[in-house]
Amino acid sequence: MQVAATLVLALAVLRKPDDCLTAPISPQNGRMTTTLVTGANKGLGKETARLLVEAGHTVYVGARDEARGRAAADELGARFVRLDVTDDSSVASAMATIRADGGLDVLVNNAGIAKRAGAARGEALDGPSALEVFDTNAVGIIRVTEAALPLLRTSENPIVVNVSSALGSFWATHEPSRPASRFPAIVYGSSKAAVSMLTVQYAKAVPEVKFNAVEPGITATELGGGGVESHPGRPAAISAQVVARLACIGPDGPTGTFQEDDGELGW
Ligand SMILES: NC(=O)c1ccc[n+]([C@@H]2O[C@H](COP(=O)([O-])OP(=O)(O)OC[C@H]3O[C@@H](n4cnc5c(N)ncnc54)[C@H](OP(=O)(O)O)[C@@H]3O)[C@@H](O)[C@H]2O)c1
Repeated sequence: MQVAATLVLALAVLRKPDDCLTAPISPQNGRMTTTLVTGANKGLGKETARLLVEAGHTVYVGARDEARGRAAADELGARFVRLDVTDDSSVASAMATIRADGGLDVLVNNAGIAKRAGAARGEALDGPSALEVFDTNAVGIIRVTEAALPLLRTSENPIVVNVSSALGSFWATHEPSRPASRFPAIVYGSSKAAVSMLTVQYAKAVPEVKFNAVEPGITATELGGGGVESHPGRPAAISAQVVARLACIGPDGPTGTFQEDDGELGW
């Protein structure tokens, strides 16, 4: 079991050496970016931030909790900005800070939640829980994107990456070979379907900015509460690679697509 896991890890690390995460960057070739990752104090957001910092980019760790956000930013060599995606004034003040510091090229809408019903394993299906999930996962993207667009529009290669999920894919939830077809996620899956449609609609409405959705793969994080060990999946450091790669696509990169490790995923 451990050997197989190590093999999967090694193969994932060895893949795609020619991507924008490993290509040399410099101000001269115009490939250095300033990126904001929301919900980057832990999990996929933090690992995405780590990969981008390691590739030489300037990264803002967006986090709603100042102490945990600053700790993550310090560990990664990133900048910290306080940002709660459900709070308009917090979003406005985060963007004001980033604008004053010099602007933004890339936004990774990563912050997201899933709510479990009390101590039970099932999903919380009451109204307030559903509103909180939609507010964070879907409305949060509208809030942050709208506030970021004036900054992104001044970038030479503006990019938005929306962290969605196969659980929000109509294709994957109907495809028997995909885990998403067997895992019930009524509220969370619907909120991620909204994330995917937001990506399509924004890509059409704002063609000067590249918008792509990403399915990071099933990942062991604290999503839904509980410790990392209570969530199945591969390490966040592996899943973050596809997110970070979409965050550093070049001017000829795709827009309006839904991507996973091996390419495009059906909506
Ligand atoms: N794990 C998976 O298998 C998987 C699969 C597909 C997609 N995803 C998506 O990947 C993204 C990251 O999730 P994860 O798995 O890394 O889970 P995670 O470890 O729980 O991280 C979620 C992050 O979002 C932040 N967040 C939650 N509500 C926020 C708010 N109102 N404002 C700002 N930040 C907020 C959390 O901050 P706090 O620490 O303050 O709560 C945390 O930093 C989510 O969009 C999730 O839906 C995950």
